[in-house]
Amino acid sequence: MAFRTLDKAEVRGKRVLLRADLNVPMHEGAITDTTRIERVLPTIRELTEKGAKVILLSHFDRPKGKVVPEMSLAPVGKRLGELLGRPVAFATDCVGPKAKEAVDALKDGDVLLLENTRFHAEEEKNDPEFSKALAANGDIYVDDAFSAAHRAHASTEGVAHLLPAYAGRLMEAELKALSAALESPKRPVGAVIGGSKISTKLDLIGNVLDKVDVLFIGGAMANTFLAAEGVKVGKSLQESDMHETARKIAAHAKEKGCKLVLPVDAVVAREFKAGAASEVVPVDKVPDDTMILDAGPKTAELISKHLADLKTLVWNGPLGAFEIAPFDKATVEVARAAAKLTEEGKLLTVAGGGDTVSALRHAGVADRMSYVSTAGGAFLEWLEGKTLPGVEVLRAK
Ligand code: 3PG
Repeated sequence: MAFRTLDKAEVRGKRVLLRADLNVPMHEGAITDTTRIERVLPTIRELTEKGAKVILLSHFDRPKGKVVPEMSLAPVGKRLGELLGRPVAFATDCVGPKAKEAVDALKDGDVLLLENTRFHAEEEKNDPEFSKALAANGDIYVDDAFSAAHRAHASTEGVAHLLPAYAGRLMEAELKALSAALESPKRPVGAVIGGSKISTKLDLIGNVLDKVDVLFIGGAMANTFLAAEGVKVGKSLQESDMHETARKIAAHAKEKGCKLVLPVDAVVAREFKAGAASEVVPVDKVPDDTMILDAGPKTAELISKHLADLKTLVWNGPLGAFEIAPFDKATVEVARAAAKLTEEGKLLTVAGGGDTVSALRHAGVADRMSYVSTAGGAFLEWLEGKTLPGVEVLRAK
């Protein structure tokens, strides 16, 4: 692997600064999804079993450089302790005397969580002095926060220059999965790209087009592609100012030998609400007073058939308004087809970004794909072909 991993790290008796992404969803003080906490457990366990003192660093939410009590990591530390099955100490600051005191009290194999790094404005500025203050509490830096690696912040980038730096097991798994999906994939490789706006996914589509053999476009974005071809899409969400761009993308795909697959039928309704009366129509027969809210059954079948010919699939974004029934069907059907092929060992599936994880969960297949990233923005930037500062800094020189 091109990255320094824990295989190379001597951690016994060392203070290991472990950068995790504990930015978990929370509602009225209660954590609503613990996936990000669970995913970092193997690294914590490995380090504690090897006799390291584990000092966790993370941001939480966007407090903008101020102490915001609702954005404290304390409840996350409590949940982490429960999931880990051992006490997790907590320090009310990530630098300075409070952090030092808590770090000094650690014995080999202990775990400590430091308070939200973003309570200090210097974190997001990647301030060198702040990086030094963070580094003062560790002998080694381990990064398991791929989902924050698109941020060049002190705790994701700056500190990695000051201490011996390694990828944790989660980061390692993520980098392996991503490289198997787009950098050196088994071909043919396809991508499902959904979402509402082409304008926000231009770079992503541009990069993915150059790398895949088939590109399935879903979500409201597909409406713009259809409208650009002169198809009447009624009251559907679409971007009129992106028609020229959509045509250019289609032409570019053709040039590159990448097959662009657009919906052939659609589920339309007059209102966007749960249980709204809906009908299935061919895409060129969308009634003027309706809007497309999902890809139709023929489209789902067409995509599923294509999947059977692929060896690798990257998935980002739902095919329809999956949060509201009955507009979840195409996403669910295609996700299940991908999961089945994955289980049969015929397809490698890597998914992530934005709504993708909830869409796959909704389809009941989030744990049946080869790899589902919990990264949002970082996954998208990786799909855009950007270099991620928090990853670059871990490359073996
Ligand atoms: C995320 O949730 O995508 C990461 O934790 C990064 O959070 P941010 O977008 O606030 O930097």
